[in-house]
Amino acid sequence: MSDLSDDLRTLAEDMLETMYHAPGIGLAAPQVGITSRMFVMDCIKEDGVEGKPMVLFNPEIIATSDTKNVYEEGCLSIPEHFADVTRPAEVEMAWIDLDGNPQQQVFDGLWATCAQHELDHLDGKLFIDYLGPMKRQMITRKMTKLKREKARV
Ligand code: NI
Repeated sequence: MSDLSDDLRTLAEDMLETMYHAPGIGLAAPQVGITSRMFVMDCIKEDGVEGKPMVLFNPEIIATSDTKNVYEEGCLSIPEHFADVTRPAEVEMAWIDLDGNPQQQVFDGLWATCAQHELDHLDGKLFIDYLGPMKRQMITRKMTKLKREKARV
């Protein structure tokens, strides 16, 4: 992939805008109904610090650390629910950037968690899939109820 179509560029820009507006630190294509294997992220949240928007096409994990990290995760697809999720503290990822060039980078801290969370979305996996059955069921039930309420209007 050496020449990304304008459609993909537009998709990336739209997704970044949606993500910042939410506000969120990551958004995967399937979350906006697109089956493309891509996500966007920007884990810089501090006021007055310039953001670092990233667009990753065909992302893959090529290495993970043995050390783990726990973050309280939320998800734009599961509003108002948060839970501690344990994941590798560092991941090395390979992907294709917005210019069609292959990239490789080690992510740590919040970036590592976010990248893994977004990659999961591409495989239809949500952070609640890491939780125990009780907690997962509780969130799923509330989500179903929320969807039903929304469907009524
Ligand atoms: Ni999410």
